[in-house]
Amino acid sequence: KVDICLSPNLLNLYKLEEKIVVIVDILRATSCMVAGLASGVKSITPVASLEECTNLMEQGFIGAGERNGHRVEGFDLGNSPFEYMSEAVREKKVAMTTTNGTQALVLSKGAEQILIGAFLNLSFLANYLKKQNNDVLIVCAGWKGKFCIEDTLFAGALAKELENDFHSEDDSVLAAQTLYEVAQNDMYSYLLQSSHYKRLSHLEGGKDVEFCIQKDKFEVIPVLKGQEIVLWEG
Ligand code: MLT
Repeated sequence: KVDICLSPNLLNLYKLEEKIVVIVDILRATSCMVAGLASGVKSITPVASLEECTNLMEQGFIGAGERNGHRVEGFDLGNSPFEYMSEAVREKKVAMTTTNGTQALVLSKGAEQILIGAFLNLSFLANYLKKQNNDVLIVCAGWKGKFCIEDTLFAGALAKELENDFHSEDDSVLAAQTLYEVAQNDMYSYLLQSSHYKRLSHLEGGKDVEFCIQKDKFEVIPVLKGQEIVLWEG
């Protein structure tokens, strides 16, 4: 079975045990994770608070702190995928806290496995999931508990890839797939109307949006192992 949780605020409606959870924050946390780990970042430790992130920085981690789309003062990185692909973070351990993506991840602890999804690794992730026996729950990070379009589009795209191998019962799956069908041929134009595009475009994040909606740029699956997200290695 595949289900879509449209906001982390709805997570208490789902049983996480025995499920494979796919965390999705297309703009931009999970896109950063996929791009960073595919480009040589050693590991990413997601934490909920700025304080936890600062503590890890004191232990030698590179600190990535984002709130409301901005890099938080005192942190090494903000939340642009281009920062995660730079030479400065190659082979480094990164500690990361973001407004929504890392919060959704922390709330999903308790699942059998937690994977990171983005358009950047869509097909590779789907092919992995098709070979698993566990139910899949796609968790959209949303925006401060609210529904958001770009995560739902990705959830629809992934659910569509899985439709021959998994059944679904939730209307959220039908809704997300329908939305994806409407937007898939020109996601960029579709997202121009979205709230987070507007937020990021004020911060010159337009090029991040173009980057994050590319499909299948990387053949990797980030997976949570203990406290760290690392590349799944089979
Ligand atoms: C988040 O986790 O809230 C986001 O990825 C926000 C952002 O675009 O920086």
